[in-house]
Amino acid sequence: MEVIIQPNKETAAHLVARIVAHDLRASPHLVLGLATGKTMECVYRHLVCMRADKGLDFSLCETFNLDEYVGLFPNDPNSYRHYMNHHLFRHVNIDMRNTHLPNGMAADLDAECRAYEALIKRCGGIDLQLLGIGKAGHIGFNEPGSALQSRTRVKALTPTTLKQNAPMFGGEEHMPRRAVTMGVGTIIEARRCILLATGRSKAEVLAQAVEGPITSMVTASALQLHPRCTVVVDEEAATMLKEKEYYRWIFENEPEWEFYR
Ligand code: F6R
Repeated sequence: MEVIIQPNKETAAHLVARIVAHDLRASPHLVLGLATGKTMECVYRHLVCMRADKGLDFSLCETFNLDEYVGLFPNDPNSYRHYMNHHLFRHVNIDMRNTHLPNGMAADLDAECRAYEALIKRCGGIDLQLLGIGKAGHIGFNEPGSALQSRTRVKALTPTTLKQNAPMFGGEEHMPRRAVTMGVGTIIEARRCILLATGRSKAEVLAQAVEGPITSMVTASALQLHPRCTVVVDEEAATMLKEKEYYRWIFENEPEWEFYR
């Protein structure tokens, strides 16, 4: 795991967007794993600007989102399909047929989960997976206790997650109770993972994920097993990390990061 500490959430999101842009230019057929949530909005804003200002080309890439709520139609303003269309897809030259999210309205959700896994495989697997971290320590909706080898399936949302996302729904009582999510095992099969965490509210859980034990109680900690995982944080989210100076030294001295310093 590499940790990159940036001064603020804007610079952190910009760095993540630059990594995506770099990989997309190097491999136009990139299979990109996407996340939703507040943290990612900044990243998508930067990518939309890169499309407008620098002609960043999305026409050949394929995308797979981590998750979708059960029981929401794609055009529901709170669905993750709607989020993706609104924040990214509608503003770039992506072929909508190449954008995939689990269908939370499928009559047979287990079959939907199997089909999603099969589709990822058919596309050759995910090259670059973007991730946020929830206050419950989750990646995707892999809530505490999720098996570290889990695959795409339906998960019940924990009280912490319900509380985190309730404001978007105007209260917990209006929120779906379950979601379809890629499993931890599905996520860590991606060739590269980038986790972005910003803000003081993520500091404690981020430190557990990065410097604590690998445990299903903080599913983001499974990323410690990944051979190529980069964690990008702002100063606020880095507050509780014990090895900050070491991470800064690596970022300053590692030739791979020269382009991004
Ligand atoms: C969203 C997702 C979640 C979020 C996480 C952080 O697709 O899979 O794991 O990335 O809950 O959400 P924000 O950024 O809203 O704090």
